[in-house]
Amino acid sequence: MKIGIIGSGAMGSGIAQVAAQCGHQVVLIDTSQPALDKSRARLSSILARLVEKGKMDDAGRTAIENRISYEQEHARLAHCGMVIEAIVERLDIKKQVFQSVEQHVADDCILATNTSSLSVAAIAAACAKSERVVGIHFFNPAPLMPLVEIVPCVQTSPDVLKQSRALVDGWKKVTVVAKDTPGFIVNRVARPFYGEALRIYEEGFADFATIDHAMKALGGFRMGPFELMDFIGNDVNYAVTESVFESFYYDPRYKPSFTQKRHAEAGWLGRKTGRGYYNYAEGAEHPAPGTEDSELLENILWRILVMLINEAADALYLNIASKEDIDLAMTKGVNYPKGLLAWADEKGIAHCVETLDRLYDEYREDRYRCSPLLRRMAQKGERFYA
Ligand code: NAI
Repeated sequence: MKIGIIGSGAMGSGIAQVAAQCGHQVVLIDTSQPALDKSRARLSSILARLVEKGKMDDAGRTAIENRISYEQEHARLAHCGMVIEAIVERLDIKKQVFQSVEQHVADDCILATNTSSLSVAAIAAACAKSERVVGIHFFNPAPLMPLVEIVPCVQTSPDVLKQSRALVDGWKKVTVVAKDTPGFIVNRVARPFYGEALRIYEEGFADFATIDHAMKALGGFRMGPFELMDFIGNDVNYAVTESVFESFYYDPRYKPSFTQKRHAEAGWLGRKTGRGYYNYAEGAEHPAPGTEDSELLENILWRILVMLINEAADALYLNIASKEDIDLAMTKGVNYPKGLLAWADEKGIAHCVETLDRLYDEYREDRYRCSPLLRRMAQKGERFYA
């Protein structure tokens, strides 16, 4: 099947590489010729590195490069079985693009969007055949990250959902199905990893390095929240938080943090600017944790973890995805050491509810409200997994 990709930036180029490596002919479209040239050059250097490392031979490299054509006109999408859009995150522009693409493709061509934060239903509404539209949300970098969230919207036909999931499964990705709601699974459930860490810092309980240390050494997370925010970029991470907060009608649970906002405003974006919560200048030392007080470290880990568990449980409660997919999404999409619902079983659902209720009583903030699902399960002595 021929695959069309629109947008040859970070995501579109990565998705094009994935599809071409899996044997598809790919038409990669961008309005900007320099973006197309850059995409072609970047793929060439990525593949050259794979050849150097012995992961691919020269013939394989040439075959992959020859499968991708770089184009500017939507008419080139004519024979595609699926088109995946990965252009700038603007609803008005995405709608125009979907409308135009629909004029050039066959009736049974699936149209997918890689949007992270827009409503798939709103994008689909631009199409005459909106039942063919689905969200296919890759993670960056697409060739390396195993998780893909498949997001049917209210208009998506069951057949389109089935076909698109099967196709992406065939690309050796781990697919999960998520409801068309802000942040899908990963970008919703992960919010407290950043938000609660920032809150703990703001309250003066611990510094960045101590919080990161607690999450890594005790929790088994690969990166601490502050290291990860510096890696993602404080501008990008703040924008996602703000967008999720607004999309949830300002639910206090997702309230962004002034600390992060100020870091972003100061240009302390993280690794990419040489300074974020940490200093990345040459020779700068990474600060050691401020304390090894094990009780404090345990409290930090548990407070962030229980908020993540609450978010995962609430996503299940609201049927955003199955429990298996929620756990898979967090282990495969953001490398959590364990699925959050499995972790809740391990810690005890009643213990989770007690902690959340204690936080809620202490702060009197809706942020700490316990998911009704956890409370019901605790009352009945249930677990997520047998
Ligand atoms: P990017 O800025 O790297 O690339 C966007 C590309 O789209 C640019 O090359 C631009 O020239 C092109 N473009 C803009 N308008 C166009 C149009 N009308 N027709 C054709 N091409 C057009 O953006 P990035 O990061 O690749 O993001 C693309 C999409 O993927 C966005 O919807 C974003 O939310 C989503 N996404 C981004 C992730 C990330 O980590 N960067 C992760 C998952 C999804």
